[in-house]
Amino acid sequence: MTAPKTFHVKSFGCQMNVYDGERMAEAMAAAGYTAAPGEDADLVVLNTCHIREKATEKVYSDIGRMKKHRPDQMIAVAGCVAQAEGAEIVRRAKVDVVVGPQAYHNLPQLVADAAKGTAAIDTDMPALSKFGALPARRRVGPSAFLTVQEGCDKFCTYCVVPYTRGAEISRPFAAIVDEAKALVEAGAKEITLLGQNVNAWSTDGEDLGSLIHTLDRIPGLARIRYTTSHPNDMTQSLIDAHRDVASLMPFLHLPVQSGNDRILKAMNRSHTRDSYLRILDRVRAARPDIALSGDFIVGFPGETEAEFADTLSLVAEVRHAMAFSFKYSPRPGTPAADLPDQIAPEVMVDRLARLQDALGRDQAAFNADTVGKRCAILIERPGRKPGQMIGKSPWLQSVVVEDGPPIGSLIDVDIVAAGPVSLTGVAVLARAA
Ligand code: SAH
Ligand code: SF4
Ligand code: F3S
Repeated sequence: MTAPKTFHVKSFGCQMNVYDGERMAEAMAAAGYTAAPGEDADLVVLNTCHIREKATEKVYSDIGRMKKHRPDQMIAVAGCVAQAEGAEIVRRAKVDVVVGPQAYHNLPQLVADAAKGTAAIDTDMPALSKFGALPARRRVGPSAFLTVQEGCDKFCTYCVVPYTRGAEISRPFAAIVDEAKALVEAGAKEITLLGQNVNAWSTDGEDLGSLIHTLDRIPGLARIRYTTSHPNDMTQSLIDAHRDVASLMPFLHLPVQSGNDRILKAMNRSHTRDSYLRILDRVRAARPDIALSGDFIVGFPGETEAEFADTLSLVAEVRHAMAFSFKYSPRPGTPAADLPDQIAPEVMVDRLARLQDALGRDQAAFNADTVGKRCAILIERPGRKPGQMIGKSPWLQSVVVEDGPPIGSLIDVDIVAAGPVSLTGVAVLARAA
């Protein structure tokens, strides 16, 4: 294997993987490698997701396809599949580098090692050492991610994340503020704070609410978001921040998974249907216009039709602005995978369709409710037609504007129409002119 000159990072899975992918690319660029846009690069880094079986299987089919297309290409597997399967990936798919989510600052060295001919593997989990070893942030888009917390101690019985990302750990306050300032200098107007349990972030008496107050004072930072939160870490200080901090956007992604208490217990969720609903009451009292989002799993082992109906009734009660819903996928090494009464695939398909129908209706209704409102949007990308630009509303909806201003503009629009997944806006100045 000759040493690669160009590289391409391809990220799957959650937003933290997107962040990690950017940071790996920065580390590779700092080590002298050249970023290439496509899969034809000398080195392809697959930054993988292990959350459901489909995501993991995709990694192996991608590797097979790439090896056929260009047999001399170097392949690195990073992310959660790398952490979960380690050396097994080298045995099964003959890749050159395997690097876990806590070790990717070592990627340039591992690539250099692999170029000498033997596979290089690093799945160590040294707490936080990668952040100190990564180069500073330079060029980012108007909306940037910033990891503040990593890992999970909750051990929901279906989930691999506590094993692939390790224990809950919070980055130091000063490191986060420094990175936020660097992101704003590099062009970000919006920062989304990331963590597997982002609202569990805390150090030295500070919690996510007080961190948000501090970030709010950074000049040029117009918008703050955070994801993903856990119901049990929804502190009053964070809820109050939704009332008190204007730059904190009115959006909360708070996974619930099921509306039935027996299933929630079997999932080890440590909240009930009612405690989840009461948290949302408090959040809505602090910020009445907040858009609520959630995650759902249908077909957890043993889930009866009546128990699934409780999920539908919870959805009817909350009326989410958007949501993600999944068929339960048994994951190796998780307690739920060994439970009796695994649900038949056709039952899961049927339940998922009914749940997504309800969630889709609620999303369309939420979007329709914004018609007639005036709000700010942050322009993030061009639309499909010439002149069209797409930005995000405070409630995280995509808003299409004809003859829109350049990427990075923060403009006021009147929302004039709504579809199931996006809105149409007219710039306020354009309208007045
Ligand atoms: N830390 C976040 C993200 C976890 S993964 C959280 O606590 O929500 C994102 C979502 O994937 C979860 O909320 C859950 O809805 C879903 N998920 C996790 N494991 C799954 C599995 N084994 N099968 C199906 N969906 C799963
Ligand atoms: Fe997975 Fe549960 Fe942790 Fe979320 S809280 S990452 S679903 S174990
Ligand atoms: Fe997937 Fe790992 Fe994120 S399993 S969802 S990439 S934390």
